[in-house]
Amino acid sequence: MSVFFVTGTDTGVGKTIASRAIMQAMQDAGKQIVGYKPIATGQDEPVYTDILDDASSDYGKEDNRDVLILMDSTKENVNYRDVNSYTFSHSVPMITIESERIQQAKLDQDLARLAQSYENVLVEGSFGWLSLINRELTFGDWAASHQMPVVLVVGIKEGCVNHALLTVQSIEKMGLKLVGWIANRINPGLSHYAEILASLERKIDAPLLGKIPYIHRPEKQELGHFITEIERLTSLD
Ligand SMILES: Nc1ncnc2c1ncn2[C@@H]1O[C@H](COP(=O)(O)OP(=O)(O)O)[C@@H](O)[C@H]1O
Ligand SMILES: [Mg+2]
Repeated sequence: MSVFFVTGTDTGVGKTIASRAIMQAMQDAGKQIVGYKPIATGQDEPVYTDILDDASSDYGKEDNRDVLILMDSTKENVNYRDVNSYTFSHSVPMITIESERIQQAKLDQDLARLAQSYENVLVEGSFGWLSLINRELTFGDWAASHQMPVVLVVGIKEGCVNHALLTVQSIEKMGLKLVGWIANRINPGLSHYAEILASLERKIDAPLLGKIPYIHRPEKQELGHFITEIERLTSLD
């Protein structure tokens, strides 16, 4: 049994795509795995409180893209509420009044239920490592409270070396195991891709688990073969 956490150098760097790749690779290796997205956020940017989400449900329309991709990437029969604790239509509920609805106890319970039911659970954070869950808690704090091993997804672009190394430093400082990192080519036009990759390999003291090339509609594809070091994850349990 393993529960591990997927973080990224930023939002939009490919955490969800890399999570799909990891889940497919684990399943190709004969392992059972589900993905869990504790807090899913949308695109809306509310200015007035009267357009906040309806507080009577934690799930809104149950249409968050990340949650649906994680559901589509597992062979297990999971429903939306099994693999998500909160869905917001807003982009950053964790830093607005809406954050008062986010209870760590619910995240802990939902995670415990998945961990009891499945061999492996991949947890996809939101935004980056030290992004907030609510007024006090960061995703890193929460991952540390469960001693989750961490996979770092680096979206290869300008500035990613800085973001990657700061994230690695923080993961290590919090006493967590960095299982490895994934290079995700989110920008096909970027020059010096190979040099950036080589710099990251030199400076990150954890294995490169795989490289995901730039792909058309990656959320629809088979991506498992891009994770070339999957035994680092299959051997966690
Ligand atoms: N390797 C890739 N090739 C092409 N597009 C990608 C790739 N990885 C991610 N994307 C696209 O970039 C966007 C952000 O990816 P996503 O996995 O949702 O990032 P995150 O989970 O970190 O926010 C999505 O539209 C996704 O389809
Ligand atoms: Mg995502």
